[in-house]
Amino acid sequence: MTDILEQRQAASTSAPPATDQPAEDPGPAVQNLETIVSLSKRRGFIFPSSEIYGGINAVWDYGPLGVELKNNVKRAWWRAMVQERDDIVGLDAGILMAPQVWVTSGHVAEFSDPMVECTIDHKRFRVDELPGAEDLGPKELLDPGIVDRLGLKCPIDGGPLTPPRQFNLMLKTYLGPVEEAAAVVYLRPETAQGIYVNFKNVQSTSRKKLPFGIAQIGKAFRNEISPGNFVFRMREFEQMEMQYFVRPDAAARIFDEWLPRRRAWYERYGVTPSRLRFREHRPDELAHYAKKAIDVEYRFPFGWKELEGIHNRGDFDLGNHARASGENLEYFDPATEEHFIPWIVETSAGGDRAPFTFLIDAYREEEVKGETRVSLALHPDLAPYKVAVLPLLKKRPEIVELCHRIKDDLKTEMMAVYDDTASIGKLYRRQDEIGTPWCITIDVDSLSDRAVTIRDRDSMTQERIPVEGVKRAILDRFEAARAR
Ligand code: GAP
Repeated sequence: MTDILEQRQAASTSAPPATDQPAEDPGPAVQNLETIVSLSKRRGFIFPSSEIYGGINAVWDYGPLGVELKNNVKRAWWRAMVQERDDIVGLDAGILMAPQVWVTSGHVAEFSDPMVECTIDHKRFRVDELPGAEDLGPKELLDPGIVDRLGLKCPIDGGPLTPPRQFNLMLKTYLGPVEEAAAVVYLRPETAQGIYVNFKNVQSTSRKKLPFGIAQIGKAFRNEISPGNFVFRMREFEQMEMQYFVRPDAAARIFDEWLPRRRAWYERYGVTPSRLRFREHRPDELAHYAKKAIDVEYRFPFGWKELEGIHNRGDFDLGNHARASGENLEYFDPATEEHFIPWIVETSAGGDRAPFTFLIDAYREEEVKGETRVSLALHPDLAPYKVAVLPLLKKRPEIVELCHRIKDDLKTEMMAVYDDTASIGKLYRRQDEIGTPWCITIDVDSLSDRAVTIRDRDSMTQERIPVEGVKRAILDRFEAARAR
């Protein structure tokens, strides 16, 4: 019988997997983030929250197209992480949890960033985001003399900065009709804890054997000191997290296995491979729960930044929750007849950062007949609308009626839209700009030859197909896109 305790040391100190730094900077898909911000506003992807009241910093609302894109990304993640796997099941836990959860998880004591304040305009900044301080380690970031030593100044008005202090990122509210300390609860800063406290419930009801995972998508909240870069860092955001419970001696191997799998998911849905890389956290930058962490990073217009975190959390979470709650959270392995606290390998993706990345990476500008054509080369599974049905002559009622019949038939399977508010050229451009993969155009001939034109967004090629074959033709194209 293997001694599981003896293997823990080895499991947590496996050699780091190769991190793949591209030799050359591939450059961002879009030079200026403002291009994406303005397209998002103009076309109804993302709006500033509470805009008519001047907005609220670091919260964004998804419009009609944004919610479709975001739901499609979440569906694609669920498909890869739950539907296509036999070893992962889903969960939807509450945002509010017993306050003790966050004490036990270490968030109340540890979930903070070093912050400085300008003594003139009283604006606050994360120390590691100040020019000149980006590469400091955690000790230096909290060094009381660091501001003077590096000559750090307020990036807005050049004013003097206070020495750094820790700022806790947890958002609090009150539960029940009284506002007193006893009623304080936290808005979860990560969805993961809802999974840990349900480990026993899920394991016993699903009868899963190790290794197995629990996946969850949901809102998380952090009182970020310097939110920004559009939806990259917000105070209210979504996470798509999966916690994989493993034998301690298997944790290092399973951690390594999740790295290429998660990277492949972004590539499968169209992210340019050279704009993705892995970056391993230095020991001094590891989160309080992590034994090892590797980020999947993307080359955003504002630099290489974290898209998803993959963590070996050891037995930190289940061990602490077992001790603090008094519940036995051990797993009994019938094969080896051992009782032990499972270790956790976590994949933690952003439910906003992922759609944001797909949006940026899909952006294309090209010259077509002397004009700039803007298109979003989104994977058909992610595109908000799959098909637009367009009349060449909206004055002919028979044409409009046929358009609606085709669109209604498509709508039973997918998001389809009818549009007749501009000339056909403009309608194509509009659909290109929101990433609709296919347009179906009905013209006068369609009434006699019972055929329509299908136009491809990326190649702009057109093909004549029979009216009866429209749905089949679109579904075949979906299958082809999925198989690529
Ligand atoms: N449970 C582990 C965890 O929360 P994290 O690296 O702090 O790890 C995971 O967060 C992912 O959540 C990030 O890679 C990012 O995609 C997303 N995320 C974190 N903070 C965010 C914020 N303020 N705004 C938008 N997304 C955020």
